[in-house]
Amino acid sequence: MFEEFVAAHGLTDRLAFHGGDFFSDPLPEADVYVMGQILHDWNLEQRQFLLKKAYDALPEGGTLIVYDAMIDDERRHNTYGLMLSLNMLIDTEGGSEYTVADATQWLRAAGFAKVEARHLIGGCTAVYATK
Ligand SMILES: C[S@@+](CC[C@H](N)C(=O)[O-])C[C@H]1O[C@@H](n2cnc3c(N)ncnc32)[C@H](O)[C@@H]1O
Repeated sequence: MFEEFVAAHGLTDRLAFHGGDFFSDPLPEADVYVMGQILHDWNLEQRQFLLKKAYDALPEGGTLIVYDAMIDDERRHNTYGLMLSLNMLIDTEGGSEYTVADATQWLRAAGFAKVEARHLIGGCTAVYATK
């Protein structure tokens, strides 16, 4: 599907698919990684493992972008994030949504020097973490 989609948009010379298990395989070399709706599937220890793995694999100045339906730090206003969190709690063994403050703390603990959050359309928030 990826290759068909990329070819249909004329990007075959710019994008390549690397299959693998992000827990056990090395990450392909890149300046930017995106973990979109990935962390909410996993428990805290697994999230911290993935963030550290991305940090270690990035070059200086490289960026990890994490996006999920992050909950506001007070856990009061983002109904979509709270409901999706309930869904993840039911659907996965250790998953849930989390706050921007949580993500910022994990990313800083992994070593990232600069961490910035931006709200996206559609209820998700992206956190940009630069090494
Ligand atoms: C909720 S989907 C998110 C998909 C996409 N990034 C998005 O934002 O729509 C979670 C993805 O994690 C992938 N995944 C789950 N376990 C994985 C693993 N151990 N290694 C690599 N990918 C994995 C699944 O195949 C699935 O595509």
